[in-house]
Amino acid sequence: MPATKFTTPEKYKYQNGFGSYHESEAIEGALPVGANAPQKPPYGLYTEKLSGTSFTAPRHENQQTWLYRVLPSAAHSPFIPREFTSNNTNPDTQQMHQIPNQLRWDPFDLDESVDWVHGLKLVAGAGDPTLKHGIGILIFAAGKSMGKNEAFYSADGDFLIVLQHGVLDIQTELGHILVRPNEICVIPRGVRYRVELPDGPVRGYILELYSGHFQLPELGPIGSNCLANARDFQAPVAYFEEDTMGEYEIISKFNGHLFVATQTHTPFDVVAWHGLYYPYKYDLGRFNTIGSISFDHPDPSIFTVLSAPSAHPGTAIADFVIFPPRWLVGEDTFRPPWYHRNTMSEFMGLIGGEYDAKSGGGFRPGGASLHNIMSAHGPDAETHQKASEAQLQPMKVGEGSMAFMFESCLMVGVTDWGLNLCRKVQEDYNEESWTRLKPHFQIPEGVRRMDNRVDEGPKEELVASMRLHS
Ligand SMILES: [Fe+2]
Repeated sequence: MPATKFTTPEKYKYQNGFGSYHESEAIEGALPVGANAPQKPPYGLYTEKLSGTSFTAPRHENQQTWLYRVLPSAAHSPFIPREFTSNNTNPDTQQMHQIPNQLRWDPFDLDESVDWVHGLKLVAGAGDPTLKHGIGILIFAAGKSMGKNEAFYSADGDFLIVLQHGVLDIQTELGHILVRPNEICVIPRGVRYRVELPDGPVRGYILELYSGHFQLPELGPIGSNCLANARDFQAPVAYFEEDTMGEYEIISKFNGHLFVATQTHTPFDVVAWHGLYYPYKYDLGRFNTIGSISFDHPDPSIFTVLSAPSAHPGTAIADFVIFPPRWLVGEDTFRPPWYHRNTMSEFMGLIGGEYDAKSGGGFRPGGASLHNIMSAHGPDAETHQKASEAQLQPMKVGEGSMAFMFESCLMVGVTDWGLNLCRKVQEDYNEESWTRLKPHFQIPEGVRRMDNRVDEGPKEELVASMRLHS
């Protein structure tokens, strides 16, 4: 079965399909039939609409969900600013370093002392949540479950969560999602959730998308299947709790700042919902990898799982790209990635195993690298040598490994935390990787070097002709 063999068994039911109109009810008959907002919704529930796009967004982009809940989300005390000292999600309070150097980080530290909300660290980013334009790249490391009476949401963007270590048991307003390493999860802007850690400490990466929402990439001549297939995305089924006499805290990430409001009712009281705006997960082991079966290898865009397009067709604010285990069969081909300079920025991470384009163990699970706009990169010296001399038999690469990339058309700045405070930047990355590359260039005897200047002819003729015309 082309799917990840998880050590932690699944515990929840899901609805399958990407971009599908889903509906789910935890009590039979809780969903109104025909109408969205009847005068009296079933069972005395309140109707609440959650908009993921503007009301007037084109139909193919329009995303909204109707919630039928015990009490509306609006019933809470005013939000009060509460920045956590260990937290660092706010791009306003720190300098963003824009630097052209290639960067690589050692694995980020696990932190067992904090929960999900306190364990978010902005490492890099571009743009501005207030303009709904750009991305934030966060590292998370936590060891404690969120409080039973807490819920978190980001007003800034959609969280694409790439889990590297541990297990996330996420209770969202729309139902539960279990996330295990090699699974990713997307929680859209505004959806409230709490994160439990049933398996101890967790670590991973988040791409926060300030602009729009993720889509499946166009398939062009590939046809109507392959890459990430729509049916493999899983959305939760409705689940609700009942408590209107308690004490609950809603934590809001709003322009990178954190605010807290209190309320007496559980935020997880949605009895039924229907719509297109919901969290979902996907097992990267189900990705149908496409590659060359003749020579050369295609651009890495062939490995795109999800894409957040800009207004310019074919140019993404962010692509989520993976490098799964795959067969390499190219004849007369340098099989690792070519050396390149990219007009897009590339942030990479490693979920597990060894990435096939790098040797020496410098790029490790839980670590990362950033090759910003036009920062030159490619295989390190050892990988180049091996690949240049390898017997070109069919071979499987990346067995047991999963590397990924957040690729963006934007220049990505690195936060103070990312560059200094985390203390994970490898000072010798460039030297280790590329300054060791040796020249192999030779001009064999008898091979003529071409002149790049226009032949002006004999000098005497030129002077004579000038005399004639003077
Ligand atoms: Fe690259």
